[in-house]
Amino acid sequence: MTEPKKLILNLFEMNTVSHITHGLWTLPGNNRHRYGELSYWTELAGILEDGGFDGVFLADVVGAYDTFRDGPETAVAEGLQIPSNDPMLVVPAMAAVTRRIGFGMTFSTSYEPPFSFARRMSTLDQLTGGRVGWNIVTSYLPNAARNFGLADEIPHDRRYEIADEFLDVVYKLWEGSWDDDAVRVDRAGGVYADPAKVRYIHHVGESFRVAGPHLCAPTPQRTPVLFQATGSPAGTAFAGRHAEVVFTGGRTADDFRRNAATMRNAAVANGRDADDIRFLVQAGVVVGRTEAEAAAKWRLYQERTSLAGILAHASVPLDLLAHPGGITVREAARRDGLDPDLLALPLDRTVAETLADFRRGREERYFVAGTPEVVADEICRWLDEDGIDGINLRQYHSFDTARDFAELVVPELRRRGRIRDGEPATLRERLFGRGPALPETHVARRYHGGANLDVPRTPLRFSQPA
Ligand SMILES: Cc1cc2nc3c(=O)[nH]c(=O)nc-3n(C[C@H](O)[C@H](O)[C@H](O)COP(=O)(O)O)c2cc1C
Repeated sequence: MTEPKKLILNLFEMNTVSHITHGLWTLPGNNRHRYGELSYWTELAGILEDGGFDGVFLADVVGAYDTFRDGPETAVAEGLQIPSNDPMLVVPAMAAVTRRIGFGMTFSTSYEPPFSFARRMSTLDQLTGGRVGWNIVTSYLPNAARNFGLADEIPHDRRYEIADEFLDVVYKLWEGSWDDDAVRVDRAGGVYADPAKVRYIHHVGESFRVAGPHLCAPTPQRTPVLFQATGSPAGTAFAGRHAEVVFTGGRTADDFRRNAATMRNAAVANGRDADDIRFLVQAGVVVGRTEAEAAAKWRLYQERTSLAGILAHASVPLDLLAHPGGITVREAARRDGLDPDLLALPLDRTVAETLADFRRGREERYFVAGTPEVVADEICRWLDEDGIDGINLRQYHSFDTARDFAELVVPELRRRGRIRDGEPATLRERLFGRGPALPETHVARRYHGGANLDVPRTPLRFSQPA
């Protein structure tokens, strides 16, 4: 008999008050306002470690949501991803109290240079014993661009071109700059590392110029596990080349399967195996000891959800809440002097219907509310019928969502052979069941051991000023 497919189980987090379940930070007992306390993160990490999770996944943005109502006021009032602290800085605290869980962190390739990021990530890979992943994003907020001196966002596909070069730089640093056996720690000979095995990278490209060498010695995984969320053609091509774990969703199983197949084809086109990419979906799970308990919880979460928060997060430029429910979106746009054709909204639906759609938006394919058995049945269906590999669990309540899942759902999934128990390992080993390094077919490995880095050993000078 073949073994059942195991679930990759991550908690979806963000170093902020309100990530994606707007308004719910106000629920009794919700700890979200404690995001700035180290004990919030260590307590949470303990729940995940003991509860059978594979990791925590931290989202991030580098700007405020200020499209809705022409300013950041709604976001600020609701704690909607502002205040928002750096995701990388809470990882060592969580790592110090755990041995098994992994840490996915979001970092954008659009605004900060690759050299310092590569160094921070290597530091974390080393300190965590190889338990880190990087969610590669190119960032989407106009305000983020203005925080880094740009007049507006860099056009979408151009962002992916820059990201591609960013990745080339960090691969050279992570994979190529130091040989596996460069560190000798030879006390008698007075040699810490062998200079013949450490090299410049001398990257000279369109967006970046980096001399190297990498300042960090090889870490357990070298390149962190590469995550990405995308749907666009440019993003899919990028994922086919780089990503090891892709967030993709869809409102139906067919949507998901189509997205996954496109992504796998893109991987194969880049000389990789179709199976080199794992697929995660964002999932909502509300579990109770009885159906009635689960239903009551879900009702409470719906009642407390903030529609203004959802609209601000979606950067809707039209304040639907300021219009009567009975008129169409087109009419509401006209009354506000907006060109309806520039709105990505269903123009002929009423305002009330559209708001109801926004409110319902989360009850899609990857949502389940019920008893542990019902939840486990549904998750197994997603694994076996749709072909997902794992979930990023949406939090309605911190820490109830994680604790309930750990206490009620994990034992049921474990009974069915769906939980990855076992010895501590690097994140890549945990997710792929093979070694800590990227597979040889991955584009980053072309630099391993200094291959394809045609650089002299003498100090480098760039011939042109930047
Ligand atoms: C589940 C999920 C999580 C995401 N998390 C982030 C995030 O933390 N920060 C961010 O800037 N973008 C995030 N994004 C947006 C993606 O990076 C990307 O912009 C989006 O999926 C659109 O893909 P495209 O750029 O290829 O069109 C996320 C998307 C999804 C689906």
